Amino acid sequence: MLTTLFRSEQGGHEQVVICQDRASGLKAVIAVHSTALGPALGGTRFHPYATEEEAVLDALNLSRGMSYKNALAGLPLGGGKAVIIGDPAAVTDGGIKSEELLLAYGRFVESLGGRYITACDVGTYVADMDVVARESRHVTGRSPENGGAGDSSVLTAFGVFQGMRAGAEHLWGAPTLRGRKVGVAGVGKVGHHLVDHLIEDGAEVVVTDVRVESVDRIRARHPQVTAVADTSALIRADLDVYAPCALGGALDDETVPVLSAKLVCGAANNQLAHPGVEKDLANRDILYAPDYVVNAGGVIQVADELHGFDFDRAKAQATKIFDTTAAIFARAQSDGIPPAAAADRIAEQRMAEARRA
Ligand SMILES: NC(=O)c1ccc[n+]([C@@H]2O[C@H](COP(=O)([O-])OP(=O)(O)OC[C@H]3O[C@@H](n4cnc5c(N)ncnc54)[C@H](O)[C@@H]3O)[C@@H](O)[C@H]2O)c1
Repeated sequence: MLTTLFRSEQGGHEQVVICQDRASGLKAVIAVHSTALGPALGGTRFHPYATEEEAVLDALNLSRGMSYKNALAGLPLGGGKAVIIGDPAAVTDGGIKSEELLLAYGRFVESLGGRYITACDVGTYVADMDVVARESRHVTGRSPENGGAGDSSVLTAFGVFQGMRAGAEHLWGAPTLRGRKVGVAGVGKVGHHLVDHLIEDGAEVVVTDVRVESVDRIRARHPQVTAVADTSALIRADLDVYAPCALGGALDDETVPVLSAKLVCGAANNQLAHPGVEKDLANRDILYAPDYVVNAGGVIQVADELHGFDFDRAKAQATKIFDTTAAIFARAQSDGIPPAAAADRIAEQRMAEARRA
C-alpha cells in the first residue's frame, strides 16, 4: 500500500487519513490527492469492502479521479474522496450506518480544517450529509432545507448535452443534434432530462431501460420517442450518437465491435470496461467523449453550493463543458491520442500551472 502511495503512478497523494471510531463502528479512509487548485472535493463512498486494502486502494483511485474531474470542470478545487467501510444500510436494517457513526465521521472531516470537502457518493445520501454537516463546515450535497442544492441530475444532463453538442460540431460541423439519431440507455434521473434537451434540439431519440415505468414516463411526455427492448438492440439501431446513462462498463469487447454510433457521450461513470476499449473505439473511428468530463454538471452543482447555491451561476459553469469537450477533441486530434488521454494532459497542465503560480 505504501509502495503504491509513495512510488507508483497510481500514488502521489498529498495525504491519506485512516479514521476509526470503535464506539460507532466507523472505519474510514480519507484520501486527499491534490490541493493544487484548491481544497480537495469528492464524495464519501459507503461500501462493504472485502478487505481494508481494497478500501484504501479505492480511496486512492477515486480521489485521483476527482483531481482530474474538478480540474477539467474548471473548478478552483482539488481532488479527494473518502470511503467508509461497511454495509451502508441503517443499523435497524442490518447495516452499520447510524447517526453516531456519521457524526464521528463529520468530526474527522472537520479535523482536516477544510483541506477536504465531502459530498454524497454511492451509499451516502443528502440526509447523511445533513448529519455530517452538524459536525463539519466542509460538507456539500446537503438537502435544500439545509442550504443544499438538491437533485444534481438536472445539471448533469445539461452538461452531457453540452458535451454531445461539442461532439456533433467536431464530427459534423455544427453544434446541434438536429436530425441525428441518438440512443439513450437508461432514462432515470439524468437520462430523462437528457431526452428533454435532445427533443428540444430536434434529435430523433431511441431509448431503452430495464424499468418499464421509466420508458413509459418518457413516452408519455414525448410520444415521438421510440423504445427498444435492451441495450444490445439499442447499440445496433443505426445510431449517430450513443448515450450510456445507466451503469458503468457500457463499452466493452462485445459492444464496441457492433456499435452503430459515430459518437459516444453519456452520463454513466466508468463507461470503458478496460483501458484498451478506448483504442478499439478509435480504431472504429468512433469519437468518445470522456465520461468524467461530460458528466461534471453534478460536481459543478455541489461545488456551487459551497457559496450558497445559485442555479444560474452553476448552469453557466456547466455550459463550459461544451468548450472543454471541444478542446479535448482538438488536442486528441493534434497529439494523435485518444480523447481520455488528451483530457488527462489538459488536467495535468492545469494542476501544474496552479502549483507554479
Ligand atoms: N445523478 C447525477 O447527478 C450523476 C452525476 C454524474 C454521473 N452520474 C452517473 O450517471 C448514471 C445515471 O445516473 P442517474 O442518477 O440517472 O441514475 P438512475 O438510477 O436514476 O438512472 C439509471 C437508469 O438506468 C436504468 N438501467 C439500469 N440498468 C440498465 C440496463 N442494463 N439497461 C438499461 N437501463 C438500465 C435504471 O432502470 C434507471 O432508470 C450513473 O452511472 C451515475 O453514476 C450521475
